[in-house]
Amino acid sequence: MSAFRDGLFDGRTVFVAGGTSGINLGIARRFAELGAYVAVAGRNPEKARAAAESIGRGAEGFSCDVRDYEAVRGVLERIHSARGPLDVVVSGAAGNFLAPVAGLSSNGFRTVVDIDLNGTFNVFKGCYDLVRKPGASLIAITAGQAVNPMPFQAHACAAKAGVNQLVRVLAMEWGPEGIRVNGLSPGPIAGTEGMARLAPTREIADALASRIPLRRFGEISEVAESAVFLSTSSAAYITGTILDCEGGSQLGDSRPRL
Ligand code: HXC
Ligand code: NAP
Repeated sequence: MSAFRDGLFDGRTVFVAGGTSGINLGIARRFAELGAYVAVAGRNPEKARAAAESIGRGAEGFSCDVRDYEAVRGVLERIHSARGPLDVVVSGAAGNFLAPVAGLSSNGFRTVVDIDLNGTFNVFKGCYDLVRKPGASLIAITAGQAVNPMPFQAHACAAKAGVNQLVRVLAMEWGPEGIRVNGLSPGPIAGTEGMARLAPTREIADALASRIPLRRFGEISEVAESAVFLSTSSAAYITGTILDCEGGSQLGDSRPRL
């Protein structure tokens, strides 16, 4: 049951980088349900078109690679020309796979850092002069691995740690202009590409869920509600924070033990 009322985002413009599948698509969909014009972007143009169609309500899909600053900037300028200042910008594009450092090439490490961290820089830098001031809400989708290390995730851990620190610095630099910048850190979310990669079997997924304080994976819709919250007036004094939406999973293994 959502705490947010219909029409809350009427007339607002929302851009979601990486919004063509999974968690980010769920975030985009929720903003659209609440009345916003929503634009989603990913590398694959057909996937972007299908995502926008699935959202409906006038949503549009764009194709760009977040590793390419000019391409990102071009999409943001098109949205700004058609709609005016952007109210919410979500940077959620990411790449990940399980690999020990011994089996990870320099290019493999660089690729994930390039998508997650440099991509977030490109999205936020690219939108800076195009967002509503004051009032804009910028959200980077991060992960608990930014803080708690995880084997076979050196690339993603390093990239997301950088994302968290970028969020904090931008909150300081852009706060005076009324731009809020926050991170949103999902835990294991059911039915996503990320969990298919990190917990590829039912056994691994069940074992992981049994350690989480809330004893289950999260739902995409629950992360979407958190993204909406960060962009409402109820969060007007929240900036530079990382909001965990993860059932307590980063607290550690919560099974009873001696
Ligand atoms: C080791 C691998 C690898 C693997 C790719 N590489 N997969 N190395 N183990 N399983 C290496 C390749 O060999 C190559 O290095 C380099 O990475 C780049 O690979 P490409 O396939 O050329 O890259 P690209 O086409 O740009 O694709 C990026 C990708 C891909 C990240 C590799 O998986 C992708 O597009 N992912 C997007 C979807 C996704 O990952 N969703 C999950 C996000 S979930 P060499 O040296 O051979 O050239 C998530 C969970 C967060 O982020 C929770 C934890 C932080
Ligand atoms: P997903 O479905 O794989 O979504 C990734 C999105 O990013 C897609 O829209 C993809 O579209 C796009 N993308 C990937 N590389 C891109 C690039 N170089 N340029 C532009 N777009 C790119 O992933 P998810 O599992 O839902 O994860 C979404 C976010 O949540 C990520 O930031 C992830 O790190 C974070 N997260 C997920 C979990 C989880 O449980 N799944 C947990 C913690 C954090 P294209 O392939 O068309 O480019």
